[in-house]
Amino acid sequence: MNKVDVLLGLQWGDEGKGKVVDFLAPGYDVIARFQGGPNAGHTLVFEGNKFVLHTIPSGIFRKGIHNFIGQGVVLDPVVFAKELALISNSVERIDKRLHIAKGVHLILPTHRLLDAASETSKGKAKIGSTLKGIGPAYMDKTGRNGFRAGDLLTADWKEKYEQLKRKHLHLLQNFDVKIDFNMPELEEEFFDAVEVLKSIPFVNGVSYMQNALKEGKRILAEGAQGTLLDINSGTYPFVTSSTTTAAGACIGLGIAPSQIGEVTGITKAYTTRVGSGPFPTELFDDTAAYLAEKGNEYGATTGRPRRCGWLDMTALRYAVKINGVSKLCLMKADVMSGLPEIKAATAYEIDGQITEDMPFDLNIKNLKPVYTSFEPWNEDLSRIRKFEDFPPSFVRYIQFIEQNTGVRVSLVSTGPDREQTVFSGS
Ligand code: IMP
Repeated sequence: MNKVDVLLGLQWGDEGKGKVVDFLAPGYDVIARFQGGPNAGHTLVFEGNKFVLHTIPSGIFRKGIHNFIGQGVVLDPVVFAKELALISNSVERIDKRLHIAKGVHLILPTHRLLDAASETSKGKAKIGSTLKGIGPAYMDKTGRNGFRAGDLLTADWKEKYEQLKRKHLHLLQNFDVKIDFNMPELEEEFFDAVEVLKSIPFVNGVSYMQNALKEGKRILAEGAQGTLLDINSGTYPFVTSSTTTAAGACIGLGIAPSQIGEVTGITKAYTTRVGSGPFPTELFDDTAAYLAEKGNEYGATTGRPRRCGWLDMTALRYAVKINGVSKLCLMKADVMSGLPEIKAATAYEIDGQITEDMPFDLNIKNLKPVYTSFEPWNEDLSRIRKFEDFPPSFVRYIQFIEQNTGVRVSLVSTGPDREQTVFSGS
């Protein structure tokens, strides 16, 4: 029986997963999203077009490939309907190319209001949520109150919706902050979007996956966010609400750990983070400005500027380990060309002690990264299409990453376009 390959982010999200999924998609029959929701923003650039996908898997633009949204995802019908409208000119018969698990939980308008109220009431301690209603929707899921896509197929779904809405409105009153909203407007938009959502086939998600495997389909599970935003293993509490690690592919798709095949981990050649939370290798100097500017480091979902810093090998080794990464993709290497110096942190110093392990809490004042320096490279990498053509100093940087993580770099991205990809072929 075939196995499910997994592709996921090894940092704090925004590593460029969408581009790699789109690039690798021709080798697969099915691309499946397994967690997260419209907090994600997967950017795809090809043939002069640019699309940002929030909910729909990144295989949607490749003919003959099926796309699947698994039970681990939370879906906002309003965002989904807008996304569908944007891609409808480029994708024919989307109802034949996309399936949604009945177990997907829906984000209601009141989930978004609760997210805003919860985040605002935290004041300085806010986590920098994308405010898409992710946390409250997953809270209802684990609280056994959630509203699932499959519920829309029942006769009394509006009653269930009303019940949950009433609970949310009641909860909203308990926050110190006041959130302005127009419920009739929000509901009109929501109910219209629900009708659009219902035009896509809902399926028994676990059967869909197990049958696809039995039929010998080649499946790629596409992660959203990144390992360090994982609810269990990330930099809690500055994390998202889902399981962003390889284990999330099992629970979010309904497959066994033994049904996981290759795990491809995506990392930028440096590090970025959007929102609050610890970031030991963060830079506040000209290098940060250079990376942000040249790398166009602004959130694909919120437009917020991303914080930038050096590659953090302690965090990367940790991510490689807990995901069982078997291949690495190195993104945005072209952005680092022309920097006067290049560094990566190989360990942390905590109270004078050097550690190569990820501490329980990264958010501690007396933690300092231990850096190693690399010879910089000036060559423009954006036109390079073969490994052999990379400048020697960049090759040494790749080799350092491979030796330090024990994993081979199989793909290097040298620009946003599908074409700007240097692939080892396996
Ligand atoms: P939430 O998932 O929207 O509640 O956001 C929780 C934290 O995860 C915040 O720090 C967000 O900035 C971060 N986050 C959520 N989704 C993404 C993403 O797709 N890329 C990068 N950061 C994200």
